Amino acid sequence: MQHGYPDAQPFAPARYPGLAGKVVLDTGAASGIGRAMAHGFARHGARLMLLDLDAGGLAAAKAELEAAHPGVEVETVRASITDPEAVEAACAATEARFGRIDVLLNNAGISMNKPSLELTPDDWRRAIDIDLSGVFFCTQAAARRMVRQGGGNILSTASMWGLASSARRLAYCAAKAGVVSLTKSLAAEWAEHNIRVNAVCPGYTRTALVDSLLARGAMDGEALLARTPLRRFGTPEEMAEVALFLASDAAAFITGHALVSDGGWTADGF
Ligand SMILES: NC(=O)c1ccc[n+]([C@@H]2O[C@H](COP(=O)([O-])OP(=O)(O)OC[C@H]3O[C@@H](n4cnc5c(N)ncnc54)[C@H](O)[C@@H]3O)[C@@H](O)[C@H]2O)c1
Repeated sequence: MQHGYPDAQPFAPARYPGLAGKVVLDTGAASGIGRAMAHGFARHGARLMLLDLDAGGLAAAKAELEAAHPGVEVETVRASITDPEAVEAACAATEARFGRIDVLLNNAGISMNKPSLELTPDDWRRAIDIDLSGVFFCTQAAARRMVRQGGGNILSTASMWGLASSARRLAYCAAKAGVVSLTKSLAAEWAEHNIRVNAVCPGYTRTALVDSLLARGAMDGEALLARTPLRRFGTPEEMAEVALFLASDAAAFITGHALVSDGGWTADGF
């Protein structure tokens, strides 16, 4: 607790019975927000294909899910979302194993915090390749199947930095703003196929990605907390709750939306 502001509190997670049996392809599932989302969907009886570059992390996530949710159906596929052929193969593997893809969770992503004058072409390409192009490749490959099967749900983890902008985060902000734009364009284009497309826009959330930035001194934790009206970091579980809501029937009329969960950051001076 800081100055009377409460820490993250345990909460009774929501229940969306309609998510039972849904087939969820979760990218970046080996860690952080993607892993927490996998737990949220597993709790609802969804069937999961976890995709990540990190083979060890995938195996650990699978074992953790099977221990926490006995009977859960979970498979893994190692692929980079930047490789359209590998993404297509991962979608085909998901279809072969589970018969369909109902929900795509685009979580895989990296940070890119650097002064813009020092940003190399490789830095720029890496951030755009992973944080924007990778989202598009996964979205297109999954949506081709959703069109055939009569509908689906696409959720991308963008960022509050897809809506607001920041010094020394140019490539990340540009990529995440691209994800928000992609979300709106595709929501309009694919509504006729019964595909909803939305984005979750987290503020600073305590994951390996943020921990490494704090450890490297690439972010000032105290300053971030002072700038956040609720004076704390978000938790991966709180982001998972947003995804569960947006994927559920309770959000059936919501498409093309970028839902911010940032402790008030963007509201304060946005
Ligand atoms: N943590 C935050 O504060 C925060 C805030 C806003 C948005 N986000 C976004 O949320 C998403 C998840 O972030 P996180 O904090 O859980 O990060 P994380 O580093 O804990 O997890 C990201 C996962 O993506 C995987 N990955 C990276 N590149 C990949 C690739 N090319 N192909 C497949 N997998 C790849 C990594 O191996 C890792 O398992 C990211 O898109 C990030 O930009 C995070």
